[in-house]
Amino acid sequence: MTRGCCIWLTGLSGAGKSTIAQVLAAHLIDAGRTVTLLDGDVVRTHLSRGLGFSKADRDANILRIAFVAAEIVRHGGIVVVAAVSPYEAARNQARDMIGHDGLVLVHVATPLAVCEQRDVKGLYARARRGEITGFTGVDDPYEPPASPDLALTTLDCDAVECARRIECVLEGRGFISRS
Ligand code: ADX
Repeated sequence: MTRGCCIWLTGLSGAGKSTIAQVLAAHLIDAGRTVTLLDGDVVRTHLSRGLGFSKADRDANILRIAFVAAEIVRHGGIVVVAAVSPYEAARNQARDMIGHDGLVLVHVATPLAVCEQRDVKGLYARARRGEITGFTGVDDPYEPPASPDLALTTLDCDAVECARRIECVLEGRGFISRS
């Protein structure tokens, strides 16, 4: 059986996590793997419906995602997670649940100023106007991962190149074979 793994993308809202996750998932599916995409925005419409953005609710969201991810990895699948996942402790808990060998943690480290300038969903503007409180990077913390497997700024590479860099790590770790 092929080895399962979880590629966990963490970073600010608007950093490019979802786009990279979609490109990566498409490549891996083309390569014949079974891939599940767990995107924070989507997960919050069913698995985590009703949860808000307090620290407790974010932690609950991350642990639910980690639970599902762990099952997928255990069965040899690939799961790509795209979630802000701002707290180091919750990410470490997720790593413990999924298994250290099966997790590839990727920090999508697009600077706040760039995310805010892009503001695809208009949420930063709303947060600055005080219409949303507790928005990550504005008035809620983002703890950068202390030791990610890969950090991508997205300033020097587009989503396709970011996905390719992740695939290099997956090859190096033996999760996918060299193309
Ligand atoms: S997490 O903190 O629990 O990991 P998650 O990735 O599921 O967050 O959801 C983040 C998405 O919710 C953002 O991309 C943004 O679209 C939306 N959102 C709404 N309110 C907030 C907020 N207060 N902080 C961050 N993101 C928010």
